[in-house]
Amino acid sequence: MLTPPFILSIAGGGSTYTPGIVKSLMVRLEDFPLAEIRLYDIDEARQRTLAPVVEKVIRDHSDTIKFIVTSDAETAFSGAHFIFAQMRVGQYKMREQDEKIPLRHGVVGQETCGPGGLAYGLRTILPMVELIDLVEQYADKKAWIVNYSNPAAIVAEGVRRLRPNARVLNICDMPVAAMRNIGAILGVDRHKLQVDYFGLNHFGWFTRILVDGEDRLPEVRRHVAQFGLLTEDASKTDPQHADPSWVKTWRNIKPIMDHFPDYLPNPYLQYYLMPNQIVEHQDPHLTRANEVMNGREKKLFAAAEEYQRTGILPDAFHVGVHGAFIVDVACSLAFDLRQRHLVIVENKGAIANLPYDAMVEVPAYITANGPEPVRMGAVPLFHQTLLMQQLASEQLLVEATIEGSYEKALQAFTLNRTVPTMQHAKAILDDMIEANRDYWPQLQKAWQDGE
Ligand code: G6P
Ligand code: MN
Repeated sequence: MLTPPFILSIAGGGSTYTPGIVKSLMVRLEDFPLAEIRLYDIDEARQRTLAPVVEKVIRDHSDTIKFIVTSDAETAFSGAHFIFAQMRVGQYKMREQDEKIPLRHGVVGQETCGPGGLAYGLRTILPMVELIDLVEQYADKKAWIVNYSNPAAIVAEGVRRLRPNARVLNICDMPVAAMRNIGAILGVDRHKLQVDYFGLNHFGWFTRILVDGEDRLPEVRRHVAQFGLLTEDASKTDPQHADPSWVKTWRNIKPIMDHFPDYLPNPYLQYYLMPNQIVEHQDPHLTRANEVMNGREKKLFAAAEEYQRTGILPDAFHVGVHGAFIVDVACSLAFDLRQRHLVIVENKGAIANLPYDAMVEVPAYITANGPEPVRMGAVPLFHQTLLMQQLASEQLLVEATIEGSYEKALQAFTLNRTVPTMQHAKAILDDMIEANRDYWPQLQKAWQDGE
């Protein structure tokens, strides 16, 4: 096992999430002792602007933790024990393209779902592998990469294919954010919930919600039928997911459960099960990327600037389940706590009727040697079929990236449930090739058009 106090590197140090994650680390120093925090980012200027905010968060809690800000991989990772990765290849500017290009064709435009997610996958897989290689070169041999980088399902599959032995644990805060809301609805601390859940990342269902051994899903179902997955008073929603577009997303759990009341869906299923409505209600010129750039990002950078000028740091970032979850997972890895968390793991039979090697999202016990998935059994035909189609779309995208294959990319786009026809798939893909020139591997056609 790794010996504390730990050296922790944050890859993607210039992320809007970094101050919140570091704050979550600071309130847990007794559980997860730290000797050093290192910020690493290839966008030096961005990271340098945010670093004083992060340093202040650290110094409010500790005089001893060493703080390093660097764009040099060796400095960032030498001897590191934990690496929290949260890279966003192409930043919010490219997220905006991922959202707006499909919308121009009347198709869902989303960060991780549909063509936007596939495009983001094509940008991220190879840089993620580069990061893994740098970590393996410099870090402690037992180091763990805890990876939040999106699109997590595709990134996880890419890593499984290209670096099967890497010590990477892929996570997402959406299930735990849903559990936060479930806890608020039931009046129970989310840590007291023990859930069963199956699916792929951003594509899954809660099947049981145990509190002290009793399944409270029926109560949640009755609540959702009225309010969606939010407390009656939506203003009490945690600020991380409280913007109007997120409130709408939580509310959309209701129509999904009105149709299919058996299980509680991940909110991202709205994009696959009701794409027309999503597109209808979306302004194609002002998408979530714009909301984030004009909101979370602007506020944080304004605060960093004000802090530099006045020495007073305004309240400008969020501390919630996002940071708390990654720290929980890291603690469990570090000290072999075997806590049960929802994470992205190789299936290995956890979902009996999905491929053995699929990267699935299920509960797992997090040990010092990694996650041990819990068996969720076989899933109903309806869910299995939805999952298989999504899995195929994501796997083809990974193969397209590795092989540089245009045809496989087109198949991935065509198979995605958000895309109605092959013509839509091709038109969107061709526009995206143009927009991603600086980021995507070259996609070659085995047959030329019209051949
Ligand atoms: C959730 C998901 C993340 C996603 C984020 C987007 O937390 O789990 O995968 O990146 O939402 O939130 P945003 O506020 O950037 O739209
Ligand atoms: Mn996620």
